[in-house]
Amino acid sequence: MSKTPLILLLLLQLLLLLGSDASNAGQTINARCQDSCGGMPIPYPFGIGGGCFRPGFEMTCDGDQPFLVGGMKPTRVSRLFVETAEARVMLPIGWQCFNSSKEVNNSNTGDVEFNRDGVYRISYTHNHFVVLGCNTFGYTGSHRNQGVDDYDYSEGYYTGCLCYCNDTANVVSGACSGVGCCNIDIAPGLSDNTVSFDENYTRMISLDFSPCDYAFLVEKESYTFSTADLRMDVHRTMPVRLDWAIRDNPTCGEAKKNETQGGFACVSDNSDCLNSTNGPGYVCNCSMGYEGNPYVANGCKGKLYAMSMSVNVQTNTLAMASAGTIWVPTNASAPRVPTVLIPSKIPATQNFLSQHRL
Ligand SMILES: *[C@@H]1O[C@H](CO)[C@@H](O)[C@H](O)[C@H]1NC(C)=O
Ligand SMILES: *[C@@H]1O[C@H](CO)[C@@H](O)[C@H](O)[C@H]1NC(C)=O
Ligand SMILES: *[C@@H]1O[C@H](CO)[C@@H](O)[C@H](O)[C@H]1NC(C)=O
Ligand SMILES: *[C@@H]1O[C@H](CO)[C@@H](O)[C@H](O)[C@H]1NC(C)=O
Ligand SMILES: *[C@@H]1O[C@H](CO)[C@@H](O)[C@H](O)[C@H]1NC(C)=O
Ligand SMILES: *[C@@H]1O[C@H](CO)[C@@H](O)[C@H](O)[C@H]1NC(C)=O
Ligand SMILES: *[C@@H]1O[C@H](CO)[C@@H](O)[C@H](O)[C@H]1NC(C)=O
Ligand SMILES: *[C@@H]1O[C@H](CO)[C@@H](O)[C@H](O)[C@H]1NC(C)=O
Repeated sequence: MSKTPLILLLLLQLLLLLGSDASNAGQTINARCQDSCGGMPIPYPFGIGGGCFRPGFEMTCDGDQPFLVGGMKPTRVSRLFVETAEARVMLPIGWQCFNSSKEVNNSNTGDVEFNRDGVYRISYTHNHFVVLGCNTFGYTGSHRNQGVDDYDYSEGYYTGCLCYCNDTANVVSGACSGVGCCNIDIAPGLSDNTVSFDENYTRMISLDFSPCDYAFLVEKESYTFSTADLRMDVHRTMPVRLDWAIRDNPTCGEAKKNETQGGFACVSDNSDCLNSTNGPGYVCNCSMGYEGNPYVANGCKGKLYAMSMSVNVQTNTLAMASAGTIWVPTNASAPRVPTVLIPSKIPATQNFLSQHRL
């Protein structure tokens, strides 16, 4: 009869014990609010339905697709970022197409206006403006006066670029330097977009390889020119990054002093207020060492370092160890610190247990 194995493996799985705090819970303002749409998390200040969003941050979920509300028509969202105060949206392109008599017979300005409440600005760091065509001067106009239905650009901003190409031979995929494709940076503070083509410069070169001109805002890293795009589908949409902010007060200092409709937005313990870098207002961020959602109570969670290990009781040596990060509530006066019981016979194992805030 064999001896009972003297090796006892203790597996202390702290991550399993404490894993429940790593969920998305607490990202909405109220437990009854829908916390995702089509798999995309919807963190406060965004929200779907009355009482679930801060003014200006309303969303809808239509056929499992999330949309920003607050413009002429809903704008589809592909991702929301709380930490950097950004939203990634899919916007229509501007275009015009020619017919065989070299006249424009159909066009679209790619007009977008998602900003009734003024919380969004087009990110000037992540996006640029791209024009495609063979004898094309395309430009973007912005800063339209809010609330004016016709195209009133009295405070207008314009920028654009020219592109030229003679035939397909000199157009190169991957190169957007003026031949078939040009691009230009945009200014801070833009809150809407409409595309135009200069009617006196722009003309058609060939119905075969460039029957249309295109112009659009796009994330710099998300679009690479391809010669095939000189015939791109006019219904294509492009990913554009928006900066959002709490804009009911121009700075953190004023926001803390003034009572506004939604109140001061940085409500979580261990959060900081930062002035917006694109337009007036402010954004919130979890303080150093914390992550999560500063816009909800207790949204910023501290990082704890946890270890899981096996101990060989006979030799009193560590057999296996792994480490990970767990999330705990921020309330420093009532931390839910894990309690791990180590058999008293093996005091050496205590040395292996460590936990501390990062
Ligand atoms: C918030 O803090 C994180 C980490 O320090 C940083 O990456 C992020 O850019 C900050 N957000 C803003 C809006 O400054
Ligand atoms: C414009 O002209 C093109 C090329 O002749 C043609 O394919 C297209 O159907 C025309 N579109 C309209 C709206 O007339
Ligand atoms: C091209 O479009 C223009 C403007 O719509 C129109 O006047 C012209 O007759 C069209 N030419 C052809 C060949 O369809
Ligand atoms: C366009 O290409 C044709 C044939 O390749 C050439 O003869 C012509 O000079 C070119 N025009 C310009 C303006 O480069
Ligand atoms: C095009 O040229 C005409 C005549 O010179 C001028 O009246 C018109 O304003 C020009 N259009 C644009 C968009 O510059
Ligand atoms: C906020 O308070 C300051 C004075 O502290 C005042 O000048 C400003 O107009 C107020 N802003 C809002 C939006 O209430
Ligand atoms: C925000 O901007 C105001 C006015 O420029 C400045 O006084 C304040 O220090 C800034 N606050 C932060 C947190 O950067
Ligand atoms: C933090 O914990 C203390 C003690 O449990 C409690 O009195 C206090 O209300 C908590 N603060 C928050 C912001 O939850």
